[in-house]
Amino acid sequence: MFEAADKEYRPAFHFSPAKNWMNDPNGLIWHKGEYHLFFQYNPFGREWGHMSWGHAVSKDLLNWEELEVAIPEGKDGAIFSGSAVSLNDEIVAIYTRDKDQIQDQCIATSSDSGRTFKKYIDNPVLDLRMEHFRDPKVFRYNDKWIMVVVKSREFVVCIYESEDLKSWTLLSEFGKVGATGGQWECPDLFPLEINGEQVRVLIVSLSPGGIKNNSGTQYFIGNFDGRTFTPKYSTDEPRWLDYGSDNYAGVTFNNEPNNRRILIGWMNSWQQKEHAETSWTGAMTIPRELGLVDVNGEIELTQTPVCEATYTVEIPAAASGEIGLNGFVRLGYDAQKKIIFVNDFEAPYDAGNRAFKLLVVVDRTSVELFTEDGTRCITIAVFPPIGSSRELIPFHTF
Ligand code: FRU
Repeated sequence: MFEAADKEYRPAFHFSPAKNWMNDPNGLIWHKGEYHLFFQYNPFGREWGHMSWGHAVSKDLLNWEELEVAIPEGKDGAIFSGSAVSLNDEIVAIYTRDKDQIQDQCIATSSDSGRTFKKYIDNPVLDLRMEHFRDPKVFRYNDKWIMVVVKSREFVVCIYESEDLKSWTLLSEFGKVGATGGQWECPDLFPLEINGEQVRVLIVSLSPGGIKNNSGTQYFIGNFDGRTFTPKYSTDEPRWLDYGSDNYAGVTFNNEPNNRRILIGWMNSWQQKEHAETSWTGAMTIPRELGLVDVNGEIELTQTPVCEATYTVEIPAAASGEIGLNGFVRLGYDAQKKIIFVNDFEAPYDAGNRAFKLLVVVDRTSVELFTEDGTRCITIAVFPPIGSSRELIPFHTF
């Protein structure tokens, strides 16, 4: 039915489901030799609904094999976003159940590497009788489990601990700072190192309330003492993970075997929802390795695409220049405005008088732009009309 569009728009190396609607990445984990990408999925249509966990596996984070739905919506409710941990050879999923205006946290266990799950009989494991309480991310800290989960409409991240994933105790709350538009969703808290110092990064997506009041993701650099997250810097101004319109609900893998911190986001947004008439709706971003860099005495988060298909644009010293894709994507650097840009989306970036490189990842329906130091990123989904040429307009200065 959608043959021409399917052929035109199927991403070559970004994950998209064979058919139907997909949003957030869920339960990102490496377990027994496979990277698992679970995701918010509607098994019955191309629009959001009947939320379930779809499932794909990969050995290299680029070639994904889509499997059967892992956790289907049940009579007890829809399966919203969450995370996964490994425990005694099994995968335990910790997810939000959504039913009758209540969101509570539940667990389910898989002994066949995520192919099928059994819900815990005494679900929920955490219930505040709240309408907007969701998206648990669980990780190991010393000999305990820690969960970060949001009270979305209060702009609060709650931090809980547990010995057994079944009984949870509140440790602290962090919130009402940074960007507080829309609702907070999909938190993540993880360690990274810089010059031998360990810091913790807290990621929170929000929608709307991003840079152009769209769906966006902010991050906080701080410390975590096993109980409380304390930001290192002022939280008055938000720090953005991405300056484009289409990188939302990104979270990182648990148990990455090479000790890398890898993030995948949903390459779409609740505002634009721009998508062609294809058999599927939605794709994931390219996986990005996260790191830290010191910029004028403050630590910033960096992202480097984990893929071989990056195209490098060399910007000469003190010059403004751009490349074009197909006549309707322009991207480059403006030395006067001190920004990198993709179409109307801009990220502040001052290259001073240095030459520098931009890394570009282009697939059938997306452009992801990174500065070579990783401090800035712009991700957008684009759907060129069917049959349009995909020619590159070579680099030129302006
Ligand atoms: C984020 C989100 C989550 C929720 C899920 C529902 O995009 O709204 O907060 O769990 O999507 O599909």
